[in-house]
Amino acid sequence: RNEETGLPLKRETFSTSLTVFFATLGSAVGLGNIWKFPYMTGMNGGGAFILVYLLFVLLLGIPIMLSEFYLGRKTRSNAVGVFDKLKAHRFWKIIGYMGLLSALLIMFFYSTVAGWVYAYVFRALKGDFRFLKNLGLEEARAASEGIFTDTLTGVSPMIWQAVAVLVVAVILIGGVKKGIERVTKTLMPVLLLLIIISAVRALTLPGAGQGLAFLMKADFSALTGSSILAAMGLAFFKLSLGMGTMVTYGSYFNKDNNLMGTSFKVAFSDVAVSMLAGLAIFPVVFTFNLAPEGGPGLLFQTIPLVFSMLPFGNVLLTAFFVLTAIASTTAMLSMVEVPIAILTEELKMKRRLAVILTTSLMFLVGVLTTHPDAVFGTVEVAGKNLFDLFDYLSSNLLLPLGGLLITLFVAYFTKKESIREELTNGGEIGNGKFVDALLFVLKYITPVLLIIVFLNALGILSL
Ligand code: PHE
Repeated sequence: RNEETGLPLKRETFSTSLTVFFATLGSAVGLGNIWKFPYMTGMNGGGAFILVYLLFVLLLGIPIMLSEFYLGRKTRSNAVGVFDKLKAHRFWKIIGYMGLLSALLIMFFYSTVAGWVYAYVFRALKGDFRFLKNLGLEEARAASEGIFTDTLTGVSPMIWQAVAVLVVAVILIGGVKKGIERVTKTLMPVLLLLIIISAVRALTLPGAGQGLAFLMKADFSALTGSSILAAMGLAFFKLSLGMGTMVTYGSYFNKDNNLMGTSFKVAFSDVAVSMLAGLAIFPVVFTFNLAPEGGPGLLFQTIPLVFSMLPFGNVLLTAFFVLTAIASTTAMLSMVEVPIAILTEELKMKRRLAVILTTSLMFLVGVLTTHPDAVFGTVEVAGKNLFDLFDYLSSNLLLPLGGLLITLFVAYFTKKESIREELTNGGEIGNGKFVDALLFVLKYITPVLLIIVFLNALGILSL
């Protein structure tokens, strides 16, 4: 151990609070904002879904994120090791093992979609979308759909998935500072700029009014038990919660980082990016008569249409997909870091080996199961293909369950003083009132809400 800091020797941390912010936001912002949020909002009726989602971010997201930061930075440990450090009963390690499972399940399909994004970057560079601007609305829409279908067909999406996973592996081998930190602090600011430009452009399209109305109108009759569960799953997925990502990143935070500040800034910026993505996409949906409930293809069919009509459209289009690729890559870094930290610290595996093993497994299972043309691509379980199944099981079951266990552990099995100490940096920030409020929410609100949503989705309780 290092005499001064008390940290285990060789354990890396992020350099400053700013790089903590970019790395953590890099984890949160990803395909969840740009791909999932818009299509799920579209499929679940728009504004009302967003309101429920925001409620979950506030009452579940922020408290659970803070619990994870607390566990990570206090123990400077991975998602399994945390519970040894705190001398907790070994039952709680199940949180870490469930996190491992979630990291795998999510990576199986996430890296597939990241592959589509990489393929779109390549297509945009080649100028595949240039001809769209010469077409009328109807033909342009059909052509854009055609390009998406083509992207999903054959072996090429599998190769792009390999590329996406490889990029993640190479960055992760670099470690916390030279890998994760360096990439996120350079690329996140550029991403933020680009998404603002895209939203502004979309808002000047003829369908902007309808698009806005769709996002803002709260039609509560569209909400069902399963859409409420979906909103909750999205909140977990979006903020990378319930699987130890924020425990792992928290364990790399600098010691004077203001955890409360970081959690609010990250949650707020993440919501902002999702809304900007919605603003960039829904005006296009209505301008080109696409179905708002278009599902997973929504992003890929709309964005080429927005940019193709602009001067320098192809440059902007390329930039947009480059940045979506960045967002998905920085999110994957944090997903894969969960198993890496466990393998290197619990099993004392070399980092390079841990990265290679984990990413190979993620790629192999992913490639065999998530493409319509792959070996197990058409297998269905409970009426869902494996792509949807992995997504459903992780977001709607494992992450919220992991979140519930983390909440219960922190609220009922941890000393309040220890939480206060960590969240106020030993009394340096705030007067502790916030910690009291947080503990109240963690004890009585977060777990109850989680359980109600579960029961409701199971049809046992109707809201
Ligand atoms: N938050 C990421 C996104 O929205 C996904 C993610 C989930 C990342 C879980 C890490 C852990 O794209």
